[in-house]
Amino acid sequence: MAFILGIESSCDETAAAIVRDGEHVLSNVVYSQIATHAEYGGVVPELASREHLRAIVPVVRRALSEAGRKLDTIDAIAVTQGPGLAGALLVGITYAKALAFALEKPLIAVNHIEGHIHAVLLEARQAGEEMQFPALALVVSGGHTHLYVVKAPEGSATWRYAPVGHTLDDAAGEAFDKVAKLLGLNYPGGPIIEQLATHGNENAVKFSPVQIKLRDKRIQHSDGRNPRQRSIEKEKQPPQFHFSFSGIKTAVLRYVEVNDMQRGIDQRRRAVAEITTPSVEDFLKVTDQKTLDLIASFQRAVIDDLIRKTLAAADNYHAESLIVTGGVAANSVLREEFTQRRMREGLRVHFPSRRLSTDNAAMIAAAAYPKFLAQEFADPRFSAEAALALRR
Ligand code: KG4
Ligand code: ZN
Repeated sequence: MAFILGIESSCDETAAAIVRDGEHVLSNVVYSQIATHAEYGGVVPELASREHLRAIVPVVRRALSEAGRKLDTIDAIAVTQGPGLAGALLVGITYAKALAFALEKPLIAVNHIEGHIHAVLLEARQAGEEMQFPALALVVSGGHTHLYVVKAPEGSATWRYAPVGHTLDDAAGEAFDKVAKLLGLNYPGGPIIEQLATHGNENAVKFSPVQIKLRDKRIQHSDGRNPRQRSIEKEKQPPQFHFSFSGIKTAVLRYVEVNDMQRGIDQRRRAVAEITTPSVEDFLKVTDQKTLDLIASFQRAVIDDLIRKTLAAADNYHAESLIVTGGVAANSVLREEFTQRRMREGLRVHFPSRRLSTDNAAMIAAAAYPKFLAQEFADPRFSAEAALALRR
């Protein structure tokens, strides 16, 4: 049996968890900083680092006590190395390093995105489900919108990830957060938009689907080869399934301007500013039908785009199953739609439970377990990597 203490501090959640054998969650403590960042409508990096500093010790202590374990009975310490906010990551990493050094326990560095993927695996194992490979993973959160082809090579404890698409600008969750901010709603935007969208008409506003035309620099600056040669070369490259969500945010802003909605937004902002934790009902009282229709149409457009490209990539890479994970995977419309479409496409789709969709440390401890078995321990000199890529 292996007990792994996972620590996560990449963004605005300070989290610690104890997971046995990559499967049994003995504790999963998440301290959310939402209240600190809410008034700014997004995460303020410096404030996040300070909050992590205050929370890290009590959060780890609580994870240990809820699991009924003492530090010296932990077999390894796993920590998020990146991607994320450098100052925030450093808090978790420094603490994990100090613990590992003092306790003489192995230290495992985990990629946050791999953590989100392992949130799904962990629960699949708990449910006794067999994951079919290759799988296509959509990791969609406030910081990421990435597609990977995931393989589990025979005889290897760890997995292989090939990136096949990502956002070229904003992440999908970031679009939810920015649109919420510009409409005078709460941070984070996803949950409130999801709830308000149920009161709106999602066909009211038409957002044109994002068309991404990639210009391949190698081909553009090429060197006198004829067009036929170039197109053969282009065909040899794997297709990329990229996203772009900054356009839809601008389209919402434009809609607000053209339809003279700013006054209503300011009124809503003022009204909810007086309530400590405004509920959906509080927002509904100060939100007109036109705005609700806009919110529902925005959500529909983002979800359709995510589903369309993910299924196209799954088809292209002959995926046997789909993994949809990250904060935005908590959205019930996204879940329902993927599940319905899956029936038509004959693909198995796996989501984490809502609790494990958003940032947590159980997913970090779970992702560390195969590395623990393979004895892939971190060099004690490793540091935070804000833009750490997932590829191996
Ligand atoms: O995974 P996560 O906790 O942190 C990052 O790694 O970014 O994801 C947070 C993001 C936020 O952008 C939030 O608005 C979005 O996930 N989110 C949602 C929902 N719940 C959280 N987006 C859409 N619908 C939801 N129900
Ligand atoms: Zn995340």
